[in-house]
Amino acid sequence: MSPRRIACIGAGTVGSAWAVVFARAGFEVALWDSVPETLESFALPRVARLCRTLAEDMPTGEEADTVAARIRAASSLGDAVAGVEAVQESVREDLEIKRAVSSEIAQAAPADALLMSSTSALPGSKFLADVPHPERALVAHPVNPPSHIPLVELCGTGRTGAAELERARQLFLDARMEPVVLQKEIEGFLLNRLQYTMVAEAMHLVGEGYCTAEDIDRVLTSGLALRWASIGPFMTAHLNAREGFRGFVAQLGPMMKTMGREARTDYDWGPDLAERIHDTVAGMLPVEAIPDAQAWRDGRILATRRMQQSDRMPGRRDTDPD
Ligand SMILES: NC(=O)c1ccc[n+]([C@@H]2O[C@H](COP(=O)([O-])OP(=O)(O)OC[C@H]3O[C@@H](n4cnc5c(N)ncnc54)[C@H](O)[C@@H]3O)[C@@H](O)[C@H]2O)c1
Repeated sequence: MSPRRIACIGAGTVGSAWAVVFARAGFEVALWDSVPETLESFALPRVARLCRTLAEDMPTGEEADTVAARIRAASSLGDAVAGVEAVQESVREDLEIKRAVSSEIAQAAPADALLMSSTSALPGSKFLADVPHPERALVAHPVNPPSHIPLVELCGTGRTGAAELERARQLFLDARMEPVVLQKEIEGFLLNRLQYTMVAEAMHLVGEGYCTAEDIDRVLTSGLALRWASIGPFMTAHLNAREGFRGFVAQLGPMMKTMGREARTDYDWGPDLAERIHDTVAGMLPVEAIPDAQAWRDGRILATRRMQQSDRMPGRRDTDPD
């Protein structure tokens, strides 16, 4: 059987990590960027590094080099998308660029190839709904780096076909990702809405002098995130009351609502606060140390994944992949 083929368009931080996801699953991957030097100077070295860090976690026990060898630098967008079953677009987060690239991809790719965008927050209906054969176009939003973090949020445009959405979901399952399908479109999808709602309140708490940025990070790493690596906020509440979620809400529901009402998600922070927070985090980690810290972070993410997969919650009945 000939190998499955996929194109990754845009070979930056996210596009190069997507290439690794698909190559690890056995796909032949064509990687293309409008700035050709990006491929040699950034994307292929990043692919090699990500494959090395994933070496122990290759599903088939393959060597990092074998996986990386399935990824080729395409000579043009047309070359990249020829004969593929799907295209994962990861170009700059700019509506006009997304619109132009999506239209170009849709014209050059096979008519039934899935067209999936990595956009972090742009609604697909604003740039994917008018491409040729719009039923195969959707958002597939990853978490950086997708080679290490399995969640992918799938969101149709209103014109996406049900069969195509299911084909995309199956493709990501084949690639060992964990897709969540949104039932209707919303800007920012789920992860970024949750993340930036919390960050907005954190900006308020730091900006109004309740605590430092370092304190906020510690509240997560030494508090909330220790539970959240294994169970989400609803399951956390369920386990925190003897009667389960219903009992938690009966006791603490009013407090939950007060916190929600009083959260200053509309807090209008400005450049001074952003600079102050930069100084705090750069005081803890100088900007020059970021590449080494990213590699360390990716290693910690893998270690957390292994921990998640090591056992299942006793009594859990659903088909949770862990
Ligand atoms: N970085 C993250 O944490 C993250 C997480 C999830 C989703 N995303 C989304 O992924 C996408 C890419 O983000 P990134 O962080 O990889 O950005 P990046 O700047 O690292 O890479 C973008 C790449 O797109 C290329 N490009 C720009 N115009 C192009 C065109 N017309 N054709 C082909 N290539 C083109 C650029 O040369 C660049 O190499 C964005 O939509 C972003 O919102 C990013």
